[in-house]
Amino acid sequence: MGCEVLCVVGARPNFMKIAPIMTAFAQRDVHARLVHTGQHYDASMSDSFFEQLGIPRPEVNLEVGSASHAVQTAEIMRAFEPVLDAESPRAVLVVGDVNSTLACALVAVKKGVPVMHVEAGLRSFDRSMPEEINRVLTDQISELLFTTERTALDNLRREGIDPARVHFVGNVMIDTLRRNLARAVPVQQTLGQRPQGGYAVLTLHRPANVDDATTFAALLDAIERIAERMPVIFPIHPRTRAAAERHGLSARLERPGIRLLPPQGYLQMLGLTREATVVLTDSGGLQEETTALGVPCITLRENTERPITLSEGTNTLTGADPAKILQCFEDILATGGKRGRIPELWDGHAAERIAAIVREWLDA
Ligand code: UD1
Repeated sequence: MGCEVLCVVGARPNFMKIAPIMTAFAQRDVHARLVHTGQHYDASMSDSFFEQLGIPRPEVNLEVGSASHAVQTAEIMRAFEPVLDAESPRAVLVVGDVNSTLACALVAVKKGVPVMHVEAGLRSFDRSMPEEINRVLTDQISELLFTTERTALDNLRREGIDPARVHFVGNVMIDTLRRNLARAVPVQQTLGQRPQGGYAVLTLHRPANVDDATTFAALLDAIERIAERMPVIFPIHPRTRAAAERHGLSARLERPGIRLLPPQGYLQMLGLTREATVVLTDSGGLQEETTALGVPCITLRENTERPITLSEGTNTLTGADPAKILQCFEDILATGGKRGRIPELWDGHAAERIAAIVREWLDA
């Protein structure tokens, strides 16, 4: 007997999204199973999240690993098809915007299995981002689309998607954040001691920022200046470490004031973020998490697919221009940054809303 909903995860930002969905499905008697594509495979990028967030063990791990976009996407599709055949679910649920999201959605829709997309309708309007392609295409082939902010519906409408298929449910990543805040690992435990006078948290991994040596070096110019003012805690993504080595920039990461860490677990990262003076990032998730926590965020990109973090949250876009980054940093030190408020429906109950809609859809 197959399951009702086959859920897919592949890369780090998927794990915090699927955790509350699996729980809510169990509570609503939605019979769900989980597939891990293996896009991310290091213990620190994958296993630790399953352990910390209590995500059920995946039924199967497709173990696709790293490759070019074409090869990675193709391998996921090839490996997912027999799993889909064996499970014969009523629907496939995908989250976010990584290659695993699009690859599995494409396999499902071509087999006549309806796709449900969580975190639909976000648009950076920057088609040079691989994630933007994944978002646009996944939404086009989804039957049920769950959104985190109201602008998403406008985006989907513009792309010809029937609004009847779109459900504004809130943000499952914030469900996970709220559920785990009390368990966040204290800063002193992660760092050995708490930095006096505040600290900055930095994450960096977007191809646009780290694959180009000039851009990466410009970002480091700004980071070094900030590190003269306060410690910069930098959990470094494997692709960023590799890029730094390739560009001959590794020595600049070892400067005093910059504290390099391996990729952190969810609860460690939450502890670090919650108490940071400022977060500098090019991640999508951290833009939302800092807004939910009321922590100032400098986003090292020219655009964001999560505009509510700008209009209502604590987020400011600077791109990779050192002058803009430093100006924004100074403003935050002087004023404490944007005050922000919690966006609509980022209340910790998004996954319950999704489960209720899915249950109804299955019963219809
Ligand atoms: C992927 C997502 C991105 C997300 C990010 C979070 C796509 C298109 N991109 O980017 O949206 O923000 O995950 O991390 O799906 N690597 C390891 N160990 C791992 C995983 C990756 O060493 O467990 C290294 C490999 O050298 C690999 C590189 O990271 O080549 C890139 O990994 P990949 O999954 O291709 O994309 P990310 O850059 O992580």
